[in-house]
Amino acid sequence: MAGKGLFIVLEGIDGSGKDTHIKFLAKELRELGYAVVETAEPSRDRVGTFLKRYAKRKEERLPAESEALLYASDRFDHVKNVIKPALRRDQIVISARYYYSSMAYQGAVGVDLDWIKEMNRFALKPDLAVLLDILPEYSLHRLKRRRSIYEDSDYLRKVRDIYIKLVNEGELVKVDADRPKRVVQGELLSMIQELVERRNAKSGP
Ligand SMILES: Nc1ncnc2c1ncn2[C@@H]1O[C@H](COP(=O)(O)OP(=O)(O)OP(=O)(O)O)[C@@H](O)[C@H]1O
Ligand SMILES: [Mg+2]
Repeated sequence: MAGKGLFIVLEGIDGSGKDTHIKFLAKELRELGYAVVETAEPSRDRVGTFLKRYAKRKEERLPAESEALLYASDRFDHVKNVIKPALRRDQIVISARYYYSSMAYQGAVGVDLDWIKEMNRFALKPDLAVLLDILPEYSLHRLKRRRSIYEDSDYLRKVRDIYIKLVNEGELVKVDADRPKRVVQGELLSMIQELVERRNAKSGP
């Protein structure tokens, strides 16, 4: 991606701290003078709104392949309507979740990872994708009440295993998220600042 825009993704199981850290990073980066867009998947678009409602239902899950297709559909809208326009305006986009979530959450119910990757081929690769790594027993403990169909520790253990596989394949950078918030935030901020500086050096003033 040319220009000064940066696309950053935070991934991690439920309760790993994605939203908490994105809020902090956006505030810090704005204070440093950068324009930041905070966003998340499922998106606020139509399919995303359906998926948010769906995740709260206690009914039986859809076939995992249908879930994967729906998340990819929402992602198409998200990339087209939110991510790309912000990057064209040279903004820093930080998203909670992206196609790695599809691989981890639908992969954990047995959907073929290559198939998921293939259907998400349209989705541009982020400049930085971080895994906020934590064990489900700790992250679920942080959440005051269960909010989605995915919050089950046996299931989330499988989700985490796929995230770790993606770390080992170089797709995600692991940050230990079971440390005090401020320590995690400091580490994330310096990773991003390094990226911003490198980008500035490359694209000039
Ligand atoms: N490093 C940390 N130490 C202690 N508590 C934390 C830490 N990071 C986040 N938390 C707390 O854990 C809870 C869950 O965090 P948050 O809602 O940001 O997670 P999330 O990854 O966005 O979860 P979800 O995927 O369910 O939306 C919050 O109450 C948050 O304050
Ligand atoms: Mg969240």
